[in-house]
Amino acid sequence: MRLIGTKKIKTSVFISGTGSNLKSLIKFSKQKNSPIEISLIISNNPSSKGLGFAKTFKIKKKILNFKNKKLAEKKLLFELKKSEIRLICLAGFMKILSRDFIDNFGGKILNIHPSLLPKFKGLNTHERAIENREKFSGCTVHFVSSKLDSGKIILQKKVRINKNETPKTLSKKILVQEHKLYPKAILKVINL
Ligand code: GAR
Repeated sequence: MRLIGTKKIKTSVFISGTGSNLKSLIKFSKQKNSPIEISLIISNNPSSKGLGFAKTFKIKKKILNFKNKKLAEKKLLFELKKSEIRLICLAGFMKILSRDFIDNFGGKILNIHPSLLPKFKGLNTHERAIENREKFSGCTVHFVSSKLDSGKIILQKKVRINKNETPKTLSKKILVQEHKLYPKAILKVINL
């Protein structure tokens, strides 16, 4: 499905935590020629700091309890349909979406991950990259499939791991790149 058209693409961002990628996507959406409009923020975690951006930027938010994943996904599909969402951006969303959900949502689903996939899928990526004595790490934006961090890669950005790098410094450095990479990846996929 091509997403491009004259109207802005209604986009939902899913978060679980801080929401710095959400903030950068909101900023991107507010640029003059941005093709997207963020109209729904979803979180599985009521105490996600990032939910504050819903209030700041007057964006609708919905919190869903994923303890019952099937029910949560059912409600989610309803909300997405109601808000006419055609693009989902996972941004630090720490739940795995089911194949059923992915197949039933008609639009595109993207995720950002803080490693050079296929290396270091899952959690503690920075610790593992440093322990493994990698010279580089980075971030990846990819399409979402029902396998963790495994869909088709859209864009990646490399960063060098310095001698005295700690997971904290590496995470900070990569986050800066994530904020630039995600908008670029969106621009790339809307032309697909
Ligand atoms: C980001 O580094 C993102 O890549 C990562 O969580 C962080 C969320 O930060 N996502 C994953 O690890 C997904 N597997 P943010 O809430 O400040 O955007």
